[in-house]
This record gives sequence, structure tokens and C-alpha cells, in this order.
Amino acid sequence: MAILKIARMGHPALMGIAEPVADPTAPEIHQLIADMIDTMDDAPGIGLAAPQVHVALRIVVFKVPPGRQATDEDDVGVPLTALINPEIEALSDDLAVGVEGCLSLPDMIGRVPRHTHIRYRALAPDGSLIERTAEGFHARVVQHECDHLDGVLYPMRMEDLSTLGYSDEIARGWRDDPILEEEDDG
Ligand code: NI
Repeated sequence: MAILKIARMGHPALMGIAEPVADPTAPEIHQLIADMIDTMDDAPGIGLAAPQVHVALRIVVFKVPPGRQATDEDDVGVPLTALINPEIEALSDDLAVGVEGCLSLPDMIGRVPRHTHIRYRALAPDGSLIERTAEGFHARVVQHECDHLDGVLYPMRMEDLSTLGYSDEIARGWRDDPILEEEDDG
């Protein structure tokens, strides 16, 4: 088990374009993914991208806890998934604003517009193809994590920076705003 150091906003590791992985089945890639999962679980968070642990490769890990999809009462979540060289396609122009956090911006949250309905394709660690459609919180998490591969942090997607703040301040209810209804730590 290895807990890796997480880069915080301002570190150049978070600002570049990550390189595609040549061989998803390589032992060093599997070790990196295992360490990323350990790091994510330790934080704790629900998503992590390789650039956040100072590795400029196109790899993300995430999981969606049950009950996070407001549109689906039978929501069982999404099991722990590693995506290698992921690509996202928006399936509609619809955007929804929701609360996000990020392990690279500790203690902060903000409201971020994201596509509500996407398809994503990636390679799994065994080299097989993953292809899924995603909506709601699942779609949000995948967009957030994949943005890290292109040097994009969630504040760069925000339309209203007045909603960016420390989660404990926002939780005190200064704003008449249900901002804490959902939170994503990726
Ligand atoms: Ni993040």
C-alpha cells in the first residue's frame, strides 16, 4: 500500500496535458493504479487523476457511492473503476450546475456546470474496452476527473465564482442556497 502525495492547485503537475498510456497492462501501470486507489481511499475521495499524484499519464480512478443519482431511486452507484486513455462525448447540450470539490483544492467547494448526459470510452487495466453512458452525478465525476488530464481544475469551469468557498463556511448557512446537497471530492 502506498499513499501518494497529492498536488494542490498552483502546482505545475496539475496544469499540463497528460500523455496517453502505451500499454494499460504494464506492471508499472497496475502499480500506479493500485497506489492511486489507496491514495483516493485514504484522502478520502471518490475520484483521482494521475496528474494529481504528479504522474502525467491519462489515467483516472473513481467510484460513485450509492444514492448519489437524484434521478434514480434504485441507484446502486458505480463500482470502483479505472479508466485509461478516456474519451468523453457529450450526448446532449444540456448542462446542470452542481457542487464539486477536489482533493487538489482541500476544504473548498463550488458550483460547476457539467454536461448531464455523456458517453465515455476508455481502456481497462486488462486492456479491454470500457464503454458506458452516464448521467447526473456519475457523468459529473467522470468529467471532473478527465478534466485533470488536460490541466483543467473545476474553478476553471465555474460561471459564478461567488459560489466558490470553504465548505465549512458555506455549511454555516450564510447563503440561502442548498449548496451542500451534493459534494464530489475528486
Ligand atoms: Ni479533482
